[in-house]
Amino acid sequence: STLTVLAELEKSFLLDDDKLRAIVEQFLKDFKLGLGTYGESMAMIPTFVTGTPNGTEKGTFLALDLGGTNLRVCQVQLHGDHTYDIQQQKYRVSDALKTGEATALFDYIAECVDTFLTGLKDFRIAGEYLHLGMTFSFPVEQTAIDKGKLLTWTKGFSAKNAIDNDVVQLLQDAFNRKHIHVRVTALVNDTVGTLLSRAYLTGGCILGAIFGTGTNGAYVEDVKTIAKLAGSNNPAVPKEGKMIVNCEWGAFDNSRNVLPVTPFDNKVDRESINPRYQCFEKFISGMYLGEITRNLLLYLVDSLLLFNGHSTKQLNTHYGFDTALMSEIELDTTVPVPNATVQPQSLGATPTVNGTQPRSFTRTRGVLTRQLGFKPEFVTDIDCEIVQWACRVVATRAAKCSGCAVAAIIKQTGADKDTGVIPVGVDGSMAEHYPLFEVRLREALIVLVGEEVEKRVEIGLAKDGSGVGAALCALQAAKQEVLPV
Ligand code: BG6
Ligand code: GLC
Repeated sequence: STLTVLAELEKSFLLDDDKLRAIVEQFLKDFKLGLGTYGESMAMIPTFVTGTPNGTEKGTFLALDLGGTNLRVCQVQLHGDHTYDIQQQKYRVSDALKTGEATALFDYIAECVDTFLTGLKDFRIAGEYLHLGMTFSFPVEQTAIDKGKLLTWTKGFSAKNAIDNDVVQLLQDAFNRKHIHVRVTALVNDTVGTLLSRAYLTGGCILGAIFGTGTNGAYVEDVKTIAKLAGSNNPAVPKEGKMIVNCEWGAFDNSRNVLPVTPFDNKVDRESINPRYQCFEKFISGMYLGEITRNLLLYLVDSLLLFNGHSTKQLNTHYGFDTALMSEIELDTTVPVPNATVQPQSLGATPTVNGTQPRSFTRTRGVLTRQLGFKPEFVTDIDCEIVQWACRVVATRAAKCSGCAVAAIIKQTGADKDTGVIPVGVDGSMAEHYPLFEVRLREALIVLVGEEVEKRVEIGLAKDGSGVGAALCALQAAKQEVLPV
């Protein structure tokens, strides 16, 4: 029967407590590997950012942010009292630019900065050359705060002639070609930006994490634990103290030792532009969840268990089912239903396929008919329920995996042994918009670090994180320039 099939499928997506623990164990081993040697799949990149801000930092900088849903250019004014002002403009990066020649991509970025500066009403950045902090959200092996080679592209980018090049230089060259008076003085990953900005706002932060188009985390590590830096003759490497490390945890378990991959995941991977890479990211992030769910739905259609065996052009299109639609569908079952006689008990309460809790099909039906092209008369309540189930199963696994990554950092930093608050900054469309994302993540955390520690974890959205973070880095770079070490 349908229920037996769904129950079996659900099992293959389930992360029981033992599995969650095994994932964290593997995480800790991979941290150690990546901190020890270069070239490991989880890259554990030293960022050369050696301190976290305390909120007193001041100055106005230009910042650029490439790698999330949008390209953004901002002017950030840090007031030095934990507050800031930001003026920003978003620009779209077309697929042609993402996959064409790198020079075309960087020329476009330089043009966007130029347009932004021209339109800036309240121009506050001082100096003949404007200092720009660049948030570049891809794996970059840094050798200084303003230098780093692109290791590989992720998240649908594949621009040619960029890998192994210094991305600061690529952007600087584009500014120079256009005679734009901007100097790129700092380079940060979005996770690092998120960590810095959260620290600026609240005075402290141990982890900056992105749950968006991609997923990744950066945390504060002891320089002595970053074993691969020992004996380096790079003058930018400090002997002791702290340094922020960009984990690049999207590449966790590329060898698929612990993650329970299903055939639906394998299909997503096989058809992606980076097969066998970013295994963890493909379990978690907004770029892929819709695609996993689409594969699952098509399997049910082919098994004649859904839509009476019918599908639509949209449902058959690669990446035709956006993760944002899953958010919309899940809202039907995770928020109170207006006018229903019985409301869901809590945000965590979700109906089962044959459950008795109240539910709504309004949004689900809307998505299926308006976005996916199904004729309203062919969509039954049972179809809606199955679609809701599919979204829930895929998104719950994603949020629990995210909890594993957070738990691994808590253990790595020893924050579980302390007694204080554990401040975590997050950003990205999943964290910001996906219903129950944090609730589900915390369910995994309770299993992994215990309730006492979980209660101390303070997860805060670091909106504008990358802009503020890049500005803070540009500030650190400017200070280093005046007072060379
Ligand atoms: C934005 C940050 O808010 O979130 C970016 O400015 C970051 O730097 C992005 O990459 C991640 O979220 P998404 O959902 O846009 O990938
Ligand atoms: C991808 C990138 C990483 C980034 C993350 C979130 O995993 O490789 O650098 O931080 O996406 O945007």
